[in-house]
Amino acid sequence: MAILQKHQILERNVTLLAIFAFLVVSIGGIVQIAPLFWLENTIEDVEGMRPYSPLELTGRDIYVREGCYVCHSQMIRPMRDEVERYGHYSLAAESKYDHPFQWGSKRTGPDLARVGGRYSDEWHLDHMRDPQSVVPESVMPKYGYLEDRLISPDYIEDLLRTHRMVGVPYTDEMIENAAADFKVQVDPFGDYDAMLERYPGAQVRNFDGQPGISEMDALIAYLQMLGTLVDFSTFTPVESR
Ligand code: HEC
Repeated sequence: MAILQKHQILERNVTLLAIFAFLVVSIGGIVQIAPLFWLENTIEDVEGMRPYSPLELTGRDIYVREGCYVCHSQMIRPMRDEVERYGHYSLAAESKYDHPFQWGSKRTGPDLARVGGRYSDEWHLDHMRDPQSVVPESVMPKYGYLEDRLISPDYIEDLLRTHRMVGVPYTDEMIENAAADFKVQVDPFGDYDAMLERYPGAQVRNFDGQPGISEMDALIAYLQMLGTLVDFSTFTPVESR
């Protein structure tokens, strides 16, 4: 057959073969990937999701700095064993304000996507100081020094602005009040109503039980909110069209 004979030209010339293979793969790639940039329905809005409060965002920065993602994932896969152990599988929308996302790639420790509310603050404090005191076989390192490191909201406005630059919808009002919101979240006697209006569902208390705002406060505030924003008793997945 004539056309098969023409194909021999390609098969015998490696450069030509590479060029044609590249063309075929590019066309296939574009056909698959390009529509995702325009289809509105690839972005699912989920009720309850909001940007991190200033304190939670600081805790998240500490989580990244300490490399917790090296041992912990934040992504529950839709398989039965995972859903039974960790709860509802993770939704894309749940990490839409994460820059960078914390899905992780290795689980030396358990997934943390829904760890919020699973333990008390005191448990977290004990566990961070000395993981082996609560889970004797644990290989997690100690992070007790976080409670000695007091933090102030000097750069919190800049942090929120940076996240706004990459697409998190922080409003001018949120940025203006960032320092005050940061402080009031650890002050149960403070006037935190406006903060709660800006960040519905934010938890207000002294997370490490000690005076001053420490890195431990911020980290526990972050851990305790993970996976708590979406109410899965009312959530129904949208059918994909
Ligand atoms: C060397 C690996 C490693 C690193 C790094 C690590 N962890 Fe862990 N983590 C573990 C292991 C293993 C467990 C399970 C045993 C235990 O509870 O201590 C665990 C358990 C946990 C738990 C309890 C989860 C549950 O559902 O029972 C939390 C919360 C946690 N880690 C938070 C952190 C945070 C926050 C950091 C960073 C500051 C961190 N971990 C860093 C290995 C690690």
